[in-house]
Amino acid sequence: MGSEKDVFVGAALVFVALISQSEGIIGGREAAPHSRPYMASIQRPEGDGLKHECGGFVIADQWVMTAVHCMPNGANGRKVVLGVHSLSQPEDTKQTFDILEHNLYNHPRFSIDTFDNDIALIKLDRPFNASEAVKAVEFLRSGGVNPTTDDEVETAGWGSLNNLEARPDKLKEVVVKMISHGRCSRSDYFGKKVTSNMMCAHKKCSDPCDQPYPVEDSCDGDSGGPLLYNGVAVGITSKGGKKCGQLKKPGVYTIISHYTEWIDRTMGVQPAAAGGQES
Ligand SMILES: *[C@@H]1O[C@H](CO)[C@@H](O)[C@H](O)[C@H]1NC(C)=O
Repeated sequence: MGSEKDVFVGAALVFVALISQSEGIIGGREAAPHSRPYMASIQRPEGDGLKHECGGFVIADQWVMTAVHCMPNGANGRKVVLGVHSLSQPEDTKQTFDILEHNLYNHPRFSIDTFDNDIALIKLDRPFNASEAVKAVEFLRSGGVNPTTDDEVETAGWGSLNNLEARPDKLKEVVVKMISHGRCSRSDYFGKKVTSNMMCAHKKCSDPCDQPYPVEDSCDGDSGGPLLYNGVAVGITSKGGKKCGQLKKPGVYTIISHYTEWIDRTMGVQPAAAGGQES
């Protein structure tokens, strides 16, 4: 029994099974539907429909936070969809919004080279209807406590499952651990490309590792989504290198608490009357 060929086919099947199991974010698991009601999917027009491109998260009745590198050259017809669990299925919880060009606020000091200041705000074209599936999340302000080395934090998104660009249909989430700034800025990690406005996190796949990557991580398409610490958004998924799930290229997140003034100023720019709530 068991010719070499059988062994090879068997091994290949196990590998394929492992890859399809670890769908979504690298590692992690499917989120319970609408358990993260602040999650936003930023989608760009493609053919007759829309295609998920980046994450974001609702921080106030008409405001979504995301990353500049998602739309560095403007919204160009992209939309924000809230209340999503499955990207493909028609869900009656979904609410879709236009991103008007003048309602996209990219941080003016974003650096395309290092991704420093990778924080953007979108004012939705109208207020959302709050529901169990659509709700704002608190974000950390200056003076608040950020996670430190080895603290557990969480992130979620509809980003790539692997480096072959397979994308999940349903929201995935993963628990990762903070890595010290010292380690993340080592030359074999990101070197000088990690600035003081960034924090890094990933999770080593525990022994025995049941997935084909050494770490659990955020990945392509998760960009703009939140990093959460005790249920509060403390980071924005910014970069993780071109390949995800690599030991020395952890996920890099914009530190939200460094931008309190800019956030307040940007959101305050809008006169309260524009879009206010019925009450
Ligand atoms: C909110 O609900 C009202 C009433 O059902 C509806 O007319 C409106 O379009 C909804 N708003 C959004 C943003 O979906």
